Amino acid sequence: MLDVHHLTVRHGYLQALTDVSLRVAPGETLAIIGANGAGKSTLLRSIIGLHRPSAGSILIGGRDITLLPPHARVREGIALVPEARRLFPSLSVEENLLVGRSSGRPGAWSLGAVYQLFSWMGDRRHEPTVHLSGGEQQAVAIGRALMANPRVLLLDELSLGLAPTMVRRIYGVLPELVETGMAVLLVEQDVAQALRIADRFQCLLEGRTTLEGKPAEATTAQIEAAYFGLAGRTGPGSAA
Ligand SMILES: Nc1ncnc2c1ncn2[C@@H]1O[C@H](COP(=O)(O)OP(=O)(O)OP(=O)(O)O)[C@@H](O)[C@H]1O
Ligand SMILES: [Mg+2]
Repeated sequence: MLDVHHLTVRHGYLQALTDVSLRVAPGETLAIIGANGAGKSTLLRSIIGLHRPSAGSILIGGRDITLLPPHARVREGIALVPEARRLFPSLSVEENLLVGRSSGRPGAWSLGAVYQLFSWMGDRRHEPTVHLSGGEQQAVAIGRALMANPRVLLLDELSLGLAPTMVRRIYGVLPELVETGMAVLLVEQDVAQALRIADRFQCLLEGRTTLEGKPAEATTAQIEAAYFGLAGRTGPGSAA
C-alpha cells in the first residue's frame, strides 16, 4: 500500500534521514521507534509532503507521489495525525473534524462514524477543543484524519503527554481501523506501547534504519542497541 524507497531528507545542512526504505501493507501496522531527533517526524512529514526529499521515492498503491503537494497526497489516501495534535483550539470538535473532510476522499468515514468510534464525542461536538483533555484532543485529531478516508494513516506520537491508561484507550481503537484494511504507520517514543500494537517495527538512529523485524523476534538487547547506537561496543556495561 505504502512504499518508501531509499528516502534521504535534509533540513539545511542536517541530513535528517538517510536511505530509509519501508513498506506497509493493507491491514498492517508498522511502528517506527527511535530516540529524540532520530528523524521519525521528518519521515512522516516527508510522506505527507511537508518536506521534500533530496533522494528516494514514495508510492501509494503503486503510484509515485514523491512530487505531489500535501493536499494531493491526502486525496490519494494518506492522512497524518501530527505530533502535538495541532487542532484549532477555538473551533468546536465538529468544526475540527470537518477540516479533515475538506481535502479528503469519499468513503465510509463521516461525522456519525467518528462519533460511533469515540462514543463520548457526539455529545460534546459543539465544545471548543481547548476545553477537552489531552486524550480527548488526541481522539479528535484521529477523527479528523479519518474524515479524509485514508488508505494509509500516519500517527505521530499518540502517547505524547497522556497518562498510561489514556494511551491504552487511544491505541485501543487501532484494531478496528486496521480491520477495514487501513495501513497504519506509527511513530512512538513509548517503545513498549509501539511493540505491543505493531505487526512489524523499524528502529531509526540518526536518520538511518538500525533494526527491523517483528516485535516477538527481537530481543530487548537488540532493540536497545539499535535505539541507542550501542552496536559493536564491548566491555562492561555493553548491551550485548
Ligand atoms: N524543520 C526543521 N528544520 C531544521 N531541522 C529540523 C527540522 N525538523 C527537524 N529538524 C531536525 O531534524 C532531526 C530529526 O528531527 P525529527 O523531528 O524528525 O525527530 P523525531 O525522531 O521526530 O524526534 P522527537 O522524538 O523529538 O519528536 C533533529 O535533529 C531535528 O532537530
Ligand atoms: Mg517527532
